Amino acid sequence: MQGVLVKTQVSAEVWERFAALTIETSVALTGEVRIEPRSPGGIEISVTELEIIGASPLDYPIQPKEHGIDFLLDHRHLWLRSPRQRAIARVRSEIEQAIHDFFYARGFVRVDTPILTAAIGERSGLFETEYFDEGSAYLAQTGQLYGEAAAAALGRIYTFGPTFRAEKSKTRRHLSEFWMIEPEVAWNDSDDNMRLQEEFVTNLVQRALERCARELSVLERDTSPLTLVSPPFPRLDYGDAIQFLKQHGRSIAWGDDLGAEDEAVIVAEYDRPVFVVNYPREAKAFYMKENPADPRTVLCDDLLAPEGYGEIIGGSQREDDHDKLLTRIRAEGLPETAYDWYLDLRKYGTFVHSGFGLGLERTISWICGLGHLRETIAFPRMMNRLRP
Ligand code: 4AD
Ligand code: MG
Repeated sequence: MQGVLVKTQVSAEVWERFAALTIETSVALTGEVRIEPRSPGGIEISVTELEIIGASPLDYPIQPKEHGIDFLLDHRHLWLRSPRQRAIARVRSEIEQAIHDFFYARGFVRVDTPILTAAIGERSGLFETEYFDEGSAYLAQTGQLYGEAAAAALGRIYTFGPTFRAEKSKTRRHLSEFWMIEPEVAWNDSDDNMRLQEEFVTNLVQRALERCARELSVLERDTSPLTLVSPPFPRLDYGDAIQFLKQHGRSIAWGDDLGAEDEAVIVAEYDRPVFVVNYPREAKAFYMKENPADPRTVLCDDLLAPEGYGEIIGGSQREDDHDKLLTRIRAEGLPETAYDWYLDLRKYGTFVHSGFGLGLERTISWICGLGHLRETIAFPRMMNRLRP
């Protein structure tokens, strides 16, 4: 809150303390609080008393001048106090609440899945740690496989927790610890899955527009592109995406996964998020369902955010045929024993089911219009950053 002191209206001691204030000192103020449209935040206090609670030495590291990003990240515990960082934190909190509200309103059960796992989920790097006499444990890359077991029991579930990827990539869209929302729905096929994604993403964007207008303005976010986000999102078949990319000079072949630059070329064509669907089996994880119309491909989708942001969701219908799944596990050279329980889900009453994972930080980065994921989480974990 902005406070105003008038020399003639306060005691000499108060004026002296005021004159000696340094940046980030904690104070207790007494005075009249008024609505003041010209003040940041819309209210102001006319101070009559000022007491110093916690002094702050003159060497407070963050000063109103340009600091390099490494310096700011080294001082992340203090950087969090700046208006821009507070705005991002508020948007994040609002989006997290919106996520819970969205699923609660639709009868989903929230299920918390383990962080320490023996089974593995995705292809990227694993963080490994010793686990008593059980050998190695791995930090979860996804809650999905456990989510599938829970969906068999409960129908519609979602997980929302931290996930870990030991990726040696220093890009603007990778963290080694990030938060993922993973719904899993019994009897949903791939189309139902995409409809849920459209509705979900639109809901989150709307919520930010409605309730975070002030924060988005602090971030100087041009919100006009966000107002265009509404279902249905265009769907681009993987094969057509490859054709399109080749026509635009990208060197890419059928079978490759799309890189960040490929995604940027695609999203430039659209004013709203776009699905790229049915990737080749080799480009994707083992658990995705074979596409009956073209068995070289799987029933999956990546949702790419506009304005250059690219993939925010990976989703798929799951392989529900026991033997096909086992063949895939073997072909990928995955440890079969770690997946026995996962195969049981296909052995005892298999069922059509689908789900997806939305990366929270990538979504916030897009909604806030940021250039890097590192500001979307209070204490980012990246390849070269474990402190503070
Ligand atoms: O596409 P991914 O790897 O999919 C899964 O993990 C599935 N098990 C999800 C599911 O079907 N339940 O990751 C999903 C999303 C990505 O689209 C991206 O938004 C985010 O998680 N993500 C990351 N975010 C930040 N840093 C990283 N290193 C990320 N890796 C993935
Ligand atoms: Mg993905």
